[in-house]
Amino acid sequence: MKTFGRWVCASLVLGVLTGTATPPTVAAQNLPLPPLPYAYDALEPYIDEQTMRIHHLKHHQAYTDNLNKALATMRGDPELKHLAKMGIDKLLQHLDEVPPRLRGQVRNHGGGYVNHDQFWRNLSPNGAGEPGQGSALQHAIEKSFGSLDGFKTVFSEACLGVFGSGWCWLCFNTEAQTLSVETTSNQDSPTSAGLEVIIALDVWEHAYYLKHQNRRKDYLEAIFAVLDWQEADARLRKVLHDATKEDL
Ligand SMILES: [Fe+2]
Repeated sequence: MKTFGRWVCASLVLGVLTGTATPPTVAAQNLPLPPLPYAYDALEPYIDEQTMRIHHLKHHQAYTDNLNKALATMRGDPELKHLAKMGIDKLLQHLDEVPPRLRGQVRNHGGGYVNHDQFWRNLSPNGAGEPGQGSALQHAIEKSFGSLDGFKTVFSEACLGVFGSGWCWLCFNTEAQTLSVETTSNQDSPTSAGLEVIIALDVWEHAYYLKHQNRRKDYLEAIFAVLDWQEADARLRKVLHDATKEDL
């Protein structure tokens, strides 16, 4: 194996020098593990470093690897190539176009890939507080839930009510122009139902068990201590902006 590896390396170097190297197309097309936007210990003491490391480097990496396997299978099939080119966000919105033999893999691992990236970016060591005064998110929350406390009550009840492994979401419906709290099982994404994700909360036990054990309520309180309202507001503003462009 080592000899073969050295041969591949030497061939690539020689190829580059002579201009005949074939680029490693499959590896180059693989989606990378989305990076955390902060250090593994940045959310201490609310979310512990060990949980963050395992969650990102093991769980999120596994979803990434398995999604890449599904995409490689699609790229290798002339009838499915167009699906691989869609991009994972769009693919999750068109799961019915994925053949049954690959649909579960895309739904579970593609969902896991996207959901976790949204989740990491919803958290921040500079989070907590509340949506900015006069922000789009503050207005939308008041319109849909009456108040921030009203939203937190609905969101908390939904989060605690998720049976087994799943997610709790704050979503925006562009047709109804309202926010709603949604829950999904496993790695299902509300984008598959045409909703826009404003806040993603992972309520799989792997997200909190090392520190909070079975106490999901404690985990939820910890999340509110590091929730990045600015990121949530930025997502809503982008959705509203994009919807305006589509109307023009
Ligand atoms: Fe997770």
